[in-house]
Amino acid sequence: MAPDSTLTLTRPDDWHLHLRDGAMLAHVVPLTARTFSRAIVMPNLDTPVTTTYSALAYRERILAALPHGTPFEPLMTLYLTDETTPDEVRRAKDSGQVHGVKYYPAGATTNSAFGVSNLKRCWPVLETMQAIGLPLLVHGEVTDPAVDLFDREKVFIDEQLIPLRAAFPALRVVFEHITTESAVQYVRDGARRDLLLAATITAHHLLYNRNALFQGGIRPHYYCRPILKRERHRRALLEAATSGNPRFFLGTDSAPHTRHAKESACGCAGCFTALNAMELYAEAFDSVGAIGRLEGFASFFGADFYGLPRNREKITLIRCNWTVPQELDLGGDTLVPLRAGETMAWKYID
Ligand code: DOR
Ligand code: ZN
Repeated sequence: MAPDSTLTLTRPDDWHLHLRDGAMLAHVVPLTARTFSRAIVMPNLDTPVTTTYSALAYRERILAALPHGTPFEPLMTLYLTDETTPDEVRRAKDSGQVHGVKYYPAGATTNSAFGVSNLKRCWPVLETMQAIGLPLLVHGEVTDPAVDLFDREKVFIDEQLIPLRAAFPALRVVFEHITTESAVQYVRDGARRDLLLAATITAHHLLYNRNALFQGGIRPHYYCRPILKRERHRRALLEAATSGNPRFFLGTDSAPHTRHAKESACGCAGCFTALNAMELYAEAFDSVGAIGRLEGFASFFGADFYGLPRNREKITLIRCNWTVPQELDLGGDTLVPLRAGETMAWKYID
């Protein structure tokens, strides 16, 4: 095999992941743990993870779902609500297992009904987080139905993120799964001023624009929130991810829903990418000749931002065509991976 056909990287981490619970959890945890060393686990379960107590219990269920002997560290988060107290976030930080607090504007996406109705109500909690150094992880979309779906990230920056960061200049903020050139610009400019702001970028937003949703018919497995945008936004994201700027790092936002829940008259938002995540990112980086920048993005910058040690083990990807399975069996229902039935150009080797 030619030398450029093998890519050896420090084992990566996934800084934004949905693992769900129960039977789904048991199916998806091994897929992420196969490739990634750690993951920031989203708290938007059917009953959201709003307390340190429930985060620690959820962590135990994740560990119990790991194949025997697989080293994987779930990095837990709390779900911010109007009722979250300063004491609760202090308890979370003191536990050593909770690494962020997730802000979902109420109604923005899956299981966000318990989210924050007005961020002003959370001012005392945000003050505490700023003081103790616990990052706020932001789903950056306004929920006002009068705002066009494709503009909600940009409006969120102007109406919420800028005022929030002005009010809490020392709060660490991760702008999750950014999808627009406005977000890229905002993070790049903010990062020039301080080291408190970063963004995660998904593989699907690097590879696809909104045409993918309607290629030959409606394609529910490409529907996620924030929704795929125009090509010029995809280009800006790809440029940011491959630029070597440490404020942009990997977060798959792999968000499994059953086939039944996706292929529906009112299908759920979420792309399931845990099965082939690193292969998708490799393809995106390779598309602009930047495969050499993948390691920083996938394995270093997130750990540095969260103040955690970089991983030491290595993983290998090879350039090799393989076909993504049409579906994974969930015992009754099925799970459709992104790119089901299509060819991948890179392959992760165990
Ligand atoms: O597409 C999405 N799916 N976006 C989110 O923010 C949530 C996620 C989910 O939990 O399904
Ligand atoms: Zn998510």
